[in-house]
This record gives sequence, C-alpha cells and structure tokens, in this order.
Amino acid sequence: MQPSLPHALEMTQDQRELDLLFDPSFIPESARQQLDADLTIRPLASTDHSRGHFDLLSILTIAPPVSPIVYAKTFRNLQSCPNTYFTVVIVSKQTDQLVACGSIIVERKFTRAAGMIGHIEDIAVSKSMQGRKLGLKIINTLEGIGRAMGCYKIILDCNKENIPFYEKCGFKHKEYQMVRYMEDPPVDHPPTPSKL
Ligand SMILES: CC(C)(COP(=O)(O)OP(=O)(O)OC[C@H]1O[C@@H](n2cnc3c(N)ncnc32)[C@H](O)[C@@H]1OP(=O)(O)O)[C@@H](O)C(=O)NCCC(=O)NCCS
Repeated sequence: MQPSLPHALEMTQDQRELDLLFDPSFIPESARQQLDADLTIRPLASTDHSRGHFDLLSILTIAPPVSPIVYAKTFRNLQSCPNTYFTVVIVSKQTDQLVACGSIIVERKFTRAAGMIGHIEDIAVSKSMQGRKLGLKIINTLEGIGRAMGCYKIILDCNKENIPFYEKCGFKHKEYQMVRYMEDPPVDHPPTPSKL
C-alpha cells in the first residue's frame, strides 16, 4: 500500500544536504510551524551521531555511544527497510544538537486484513528542554506518520510515571507487557505427567 503523504515539509538548505532516514514529506508542515523559532524538526540523519544523539538516548536508557562506523551501518540497515523505520528529531538551530527524538516502527500483519501497527519507541527530550511540549510534538508527528502509513493503531510501552504524559497525548492504558532477557537462565520445565 502506498502511504498518503501529508503536506510536504519545507526543507532548509542544511537539511537538503543531509542523508535522511526517510522522506521528510512524511512530517507535516504544521509540525514545523508549531515549533519555536530556535528549533527545527526533521528525520534522523546519518551524521546525527555527532549531534548528541546518544546524550539524548541516555536520558531514556543505557545508551553507550557506538563508533561512527557502527552508527552508519545501523543507519543503513534501518534505511534499507523502506516505509518501516521513522525516527524524528528536533534540533536546536543555535547548537545544531538534537534536543528531542522519537521513533515509529511500522509492522505489517496478516491479521486485520493485512493491517499495519505502529510501534512508538525511544521518546526522549533533553532535560533542559522538558516541559516545552516537545515530547507532545514528537508524539503528534509520529502519530501523523502512522496515519499516513495506514496503521490502524499505535502502541507503546512505558513506565508508570510516564502514563500521565501519554494520556495527555491521547493514549489509553491497555494490556500488560511481558519480557524475557536472553541473559536470564533457561527455564527448567518439569516433564508433564503423560511423559513420565
Ligand atoms: C516523558 C517526556 C518525553 C515528556 O516530554 P516533555 O517535552 O517534557 O513533555 P511535554 O512538555 O510535551 O508534556 C505534555 C504534557 O504532558 C505532561 N507531562 C509530561 N511528562 C509528564 C509526567 N512524567 N507526568 C505527568 N505529566 C507529564 C506535561 O505537564 C504536559 O501537560 P499539559 O499539556 O497539561 O501542560 C520527557 O520528560 C522525557 O524525555 N523523559 C525522560 C525519558 C522518558 O522517560 N521517555 C519516555 C519513555 S516511555
């Protein structure tokens, strides 16, 4: 299915020279217009390693910087899956550093008549910029991308403390999350009685 692109984002000269993760036309022009004049919004670029991407991610979780070579390779891997990985960043025009980021990953299903689900991941706003509605703007932009792609729902995992933030973004609580870490010891399943 071809995505229906929202209004094209007006690109600056600097942005046109960047190698971007996805077509910036996915980002509605309204998302840029709603930002303060000191900020800009765009897709992740292959060179964002040097714009504080890992400082930003470390607000969220353990995110030790990888080498520029590994960063470039990972970026290429994501870029090689068209219409799947959409990472959006907000950049300070003054410092050229990332101040907020977030991703939506589009999963194709066989269920729901070969429907699509958007998974929101890695939302982070730098500490000094929190409370300026950047988190909300990132989520709104990702939701717009999910809609343009034709997702029938968007889901995410979060800790309890962030539930009010996501509720303000229009999400509601549903189901539970389960996890199994590969480093965890194997489960010793006792034999079932019929096999004894
Ligand atoms: C959670 C986070 C993304 C919010 O971003 P932000 O830009 O500071 O939030 P916004 O300014 O867009 O907030 C939007 C609304 O949510 C509210 N809000 C934000 N974080 C909240 C929280 N933890 N608890 C309650 N309300 C919260 C704001 O008060 C605001 O409400 P209002 O519209 O009534 O004024 C940001 O604080 C952050 O990066 N935290 C660390 C990383 C993290 O936990 N990421 C989420 C992983 S699931």
